[in-house]
Amino acid sequence: MSTAAPRILVLDSGLGGLTVYREVTKLRPDAHYVYVADDVAFPYGRLPEDDLSSRVVGLMGQLIDVHRPDLVVIACNTASTIVLAQLRERFAVRFVGTVPAIKPACAASQTRLVSVLGTEATVTREYTRKLIADFGQGCDVTLVGSRRLAVLAEAVLRGEAVEDADIADEIAPCFVARGGLRTDTVVMACTHYPLLDRQFSRLAPWPVTFVDPAPAIARRVVDLIGARPAQAGEGSADFLLTSGKPANATLAAGLARFGLRQTSPV
Ligand code: DGL
Repeated sequence: MSTAAPRILVLDSGLGGLTVYREVTKLRPDAHYVYVADDVAFPYGRLPEDDLSSRVVGLMGQLIDVHRPDLVVIACNTASTIVLAQLRERFAVRFVGTVPAIKPACAASQTRLVSVLGTEATVTREYTRKLIADFGQGCDVTLVGSRRLAVLAEAVLRGEAVEDADIADEIAPCFVARGGLRTDTVVMACTHYPLLDRQFSRLAPWPVTFVDPAPAIARRVVDLIGARPAQAGEGSADFLLTSGKPANATLAAGLARFGLRQTSPV
């Protein structure tokens, strides 16, 4: 394995992938990161499948040419569940995807009532249904597609006012009571949602475990590129918006919470 610090490209439609980036940087603080927020096409959850696939494959070609990553993290469930296989076929670089954490959630649930909260696109994907069939372990899995949560999460990160009631309405269908049992585990199947984890816990009608797959994704990255070498130097990070727009003050403040600042256009 090479001893040069790896170059890792992280792609999401927006700022949700920062929740994955944060975990990866904990394990490989020495790596060189390029975080790309595809704000031109945000939110991915509202794009038809074919448009999303061609958008991500086309953009990835450009990003690989410019940034030459050793590894790419698709920090987005909506994209990973539709385009990961095509990306792996098309490009030689290694890809780590983000897909709904149904297996660990179902393994951990005591009541066997599990909900999967994602974009409307993610919860209707064949990929997600197959994960439930293969790894649901007999749990009763409720799929909840949210149209608005990714947008609300970005607003919160930018420090804008968001009504609790708007978040509560979006998560309410996750809470199922049946046969004297209640949902005890909710999979956050969109990387934007851990940005709202405090609001989720506060607004939940009863306590549940919200499963964030980001630590597992970070471990997968390390499986592929290795752990931080003892002699490693300092890492670096670039943040890019596909629109090329400069980050305004509120976005800059949100990025600073992740140790990032915008550097240049794509
Ligand atoms: N962060 C994304 C995900 O994990 C998508 C949000 C969106 O762009 O709709 O699904």
